[in-house]
Amino acid sequence: MRQKEVKFVYEVYNSIKSLSKDDADLLAHARKITATAYAPYSNFQVGAVALLANGEIIHGSNQENASYPVGLCAERVLISAISSLYPNTAINTMVISYHNLNGNSGHPISPCGICRQSLLEYEARLNHPMRVIMSGMDGKVFVIANAAMLLPLSFTNEDLK
Ligand code: THU
Repeated sequence: MRQKEVKFVYEVYNSIKSLSKDDADLLAHARKITATAYAPYSNFQVGAVALLANGEIIHGSNQENASYPVGLCAERVLISAISSLYPNTAINTMVISYHNLNGNSGHPISPCGICRQSLLEYEARLNHPMRVIMSGMDGKVFVIANAAMLLPLSFTNEDLK
């Protein structure tokens, strides 16, 4: 038997003020876009913004449904929009923010498990690292260098071969 270790590295910034101008603009955009969420059931409004390799900036937000499992997270709304609007275009940076109408929005959230799977495959198929920036409406900001870090030992299309 031998033990293997997976290292997870991420950057922590105290606030949006510590980010570069470009990243701060993207985060401000994601915070604003939380207002476009349709989240009457959870009252948890998530905004996601992507800077594409072609320079375009696209956003998405979570879209819920009275039939709860039908709802989609902001990250997958965004990935689907990018994939259909700009086929085969890499994502340089994705920024995720949220506004919890029932409580606190002052700490970063990270994508749910299904979204991690989705981000990972997008990153792998474009063969281009996707930085992920996470924050709430204020407070700390986490930055990871690529989406694959969010899902070690992941299931991928390689496993289907
Ligand atoms: N949600 C997202 O859109 N992204 C995440 O990363 C976490 C959760 C949404 C799903 C649901 O509409 C609401 O937030 C509460 O879970």
